[in-house]
Amino acid sequence: MKLAVIGGGSTYTPELVDGFARLRDELPLTEIALVDPAAERTALVAGMARRMLARAGHPAAVTATADLREGVAGADAVLFQLRVGGQAAREVDETLPLRCGCVGQETTGAGGLAKALRTVPVVLEIADTVRRHAPDAWIVDFTNPVGIVTRALLDAGHRAIGLCNVAIGFQRRFAAHLGVEPARVSLGHVGLNHLTWERTVHLDGVDVLPRLLADHGKEIAADIGLPLELVERLGAVPSYYLRYFYAHDLVVAEQRVSPSRAAEVAAMEAELLGIYADPAADTKPELLARRGGAFYSEAAVALIASLAGDRGDVQVVNARNDGTLPFLPDEAVIEVPARITAAGAAPLPVEPVEPLYAGLIAHVSAYEELALRAALHGGPGRVRDALLAHPLVGQEHLAAELTGLLVEANRPHLPWA
Ligand code: G6P
Ligand code: MN
Repeated sequence: MKLAVIGGGSTYTPELVDGFARLRDELPLTEIALVDPAAERTALVAGMARRMLARAGHPAAVTATADLREGVAGADAVLFQLRVGGQAAREVDETLPLRCGCVGQETTGAGGLAKALRTVPVVLEIADTVRRHAPDAWIVDFTNPVGIVTRALLDAGHRAIGLCNVAIGFQRRFAAHLGVEPARVSLGHVGLNHLTWERTVHLDGVDVLPRLLADHGKEIAADIGLPLELVERLGAVPSYYLRYFYAHDLVVAEQRVSPSRAAEVAAMEAELLGIYADPAADTKPELLARRGGAFYSEAAVALIASLAGDRGDVQVVNARNDGTLPFLPDEAVIEVPARITAAGAAPLPVEPVEPLYAGLIAHVSAYEELALRAALHGGPGRVRDALLAHPLVGQEHLAAELTGLLVEANRPHLPWA
């Protein structure tokens, strides 16, 4: 089986390779093609990947190429993990909205919109090449903002599923609290990418969320950066991305006096590349554990294995709503547990969503639709509409000011600007 990784020169790739090595029985890979325009960096990452696989006795060949067509040709699955503009563009996403008193984050609020504007056209072009040269391949999209990017891919008729590690992260942490194997834990995960709540946590079919909160509420609340009292009152666990909504002003105040995540990550990346260049390095560096993508490789392996093997198990993914959340359009992309077969992802039915969550989900889903429209068709008017529709911007003077700032700062990456 051939897997192509778009953005394969990412310092994250050894995280993936570690998963491939550990889970080799689940996913019998024979070739991993790292596709990336940054040839020098990709060569370092590929060398590291080869040594890691050799150490694990994994037979897969690792190839590196800047030629997209060559990289995807004959692939069974293609993983998208690219970042248009790198950490420098992310830095702008995280700092520019602060000037207007809005949260600076790469997938939430104005920063998330900027990222969508840069990313959607690039992803769609790559996906067209995949369709031409690997027509049967599934696209697994980890490229943010995952909800908007997945919707763009599906609307263009691609075989795509969006993936995020938030759900698998909760599953693994809850399992550790409970002292059980993660496979026994399943989540009542609902919402949109980076806007989700765990409403139930089933252990062998029994909802143990109340017990988890009673016994481990403090750690769980600390993990997501929200008050325990709030989590107890909700009786549900919001993802840490909800902190940008529930504690917006607090986060802005923190961000104003601390280094951006982009700057932290850029420093880690330099250190990681130094490790990858060492011919003796052949195990996943500790440093990767400090990145946000923990368990990403396990989620990716499980998803690709179920698509390839028609396993029919349940995994949390980003897929079309198709009536699952009746208060959203059918075409919207949602993040919920879905049955994964060779035909793709079919969301499982979801218990009615409380207005407390449904309102915010609907609000952000409408923003996502406008963000996609702006990314596809361009123009400051569409950007401004998307900002006006975002619950964390909303006010017209902010939408106007942020539109100017964001278009100006991203001009090199916007085909229409
Ligand atoms: C989590 C999110 C990803 C995001 C990552 C950022 O894993 O689910 O969507 O890309 O965090 O991690 P970083 O280490 O780059 O801040
Ligand atoms: Mn994510």
